Amino acid sequence: MEMGPYANWIEINLDAIEHNVRYLLTSTRQPLMAVVKADAYGHGSVEVGKAALHAGASWLAVARYGEARVLRNAGITSPLLVLGMVTPSEVDEAIANHVTLNMYSFETAEMYSQRGKAAGKPVLVHQKINTGMNRLGVLPEEAVALARRANELGGIHIDGMFSHYANATTPGDPFTPLQTKRFKQAVDLMTQANLLPKWIHLCNSAGSYYEPDGYFNLVRSGSAVVGLAFRDNEPFPAVMRQSFVWKALLSACKLVTKGEGIGYGQTYILEKDGYIGTLPVGYGDGYRRKMGNHVLIDGKRVPVVGSECMDQMMILMPKAYPVGTEVVLIGTQGNESIFVEDICKTWKTIEVDATTNINFRVPRVYVRDQVSR
Ligand SMILES: Cc1ncc(COP(=O)(O)O)c(C=O)c1O
Repeated sequence: MEMGPYANWIEINLDAIEHNVRYLLTSTRQPLMAVVKADAYGHGSVEVGKAALHAGASWLAVARYGEARVLRNAGITSPLLVLGMVTPSEVDEAIANHVTLNMYSFETAEMYSQRGKAAGKPVLVHQKINTGMNRLGVLPEEAVALARRANELGGIHIDGMFSHYANATTPGDPFTPLQTKRFKQAVDLMTQANLLPKWIHLCNSAGSYYEPDGYFNLVRSGSAVVGLAFRDNEPFPAVMRQSFVWKALLSACKLVTKGEGIGYGQTYILEKDGYIGTLPVGYGDGYRRKMGNHVLIDGKRVPVVGSECMDQMMILMPKAYPVGTEVVLIGTQGNESIFVEDICKTWKTIEVDATTNINFRVPRVYVRDQVSR
């Protein structure tokens, strides 16, 4: 039997990702910062980053310096913002590698200044404004003081200012326009003080799709770029495309007799003789150990039975299938589909959590339209 190279793998459609980037560029008419943190939500930061830049994104963003290092080592030279905390030695590396950092407090300004002066080259920063997320950033009324302090200290170049929506995922939440208003206040104060930096950004994916008042001159998007839903209880918009498919090969097939139990704890007992298939996928891959999972085989939706093991799980099939038969865990087969949205109902989580936590040991394969394995 002919089989592909992997027992279980993910296919990411880069044409879908490029489509989403172009869609956002056209709909917002603003430059785009593609957020590729956490390995682009499990899709692969280097490949997604390259595709996003190819489709016209101007910036990339990550959460940790180590993620920026991965992109630079892969030859990505675009502007690149680290959204989270960095250590002094990482600041030194950021200066050398032209990576922009988040100046989110007076303490970070002090530390960046020290490192910038020691390097003889300024640290590039975007200044963070806390408009209500209460995670990182200074209050709008402190924006000018922070910028002045950084300029006074030296060794820092303020290239942007930004904030982050807390509730844009909830349709109609009044906190979102309030955050826009607070951010505008900070922008106005910086303008009056003649300190307004080049890049001004507030919107995440939901903001980029629904909040034109929050556009300023750059939008940041992660989930919309890779094709994952960004609104509570709303499917991913049909104008954009999902890019994520997860497949596996059937590793064993056997007829198991009535009354036999399946797997650890024997949590599933066969009510009649049945064909049990084994899949080389388990919770060690990031497939969640939850009741009610289904997969697709031969274009049919079949249940996962028993509790998922670390590396394997069992399915109940209507008939025997050859070892090596392709099984879809997330995606479409024939007329049936299990989208990330559907699996999240069983896993009781959000789409970005589901894909981000699929383990590194599952190979990511990059495909284009019309190309399927
Ligand atoms: C500061 C910041 N900006 C942008 C994003 C991207 O959000 P989304 O995936 O909704 O576009 C995130 C993600 O959590 C974030 O923390």
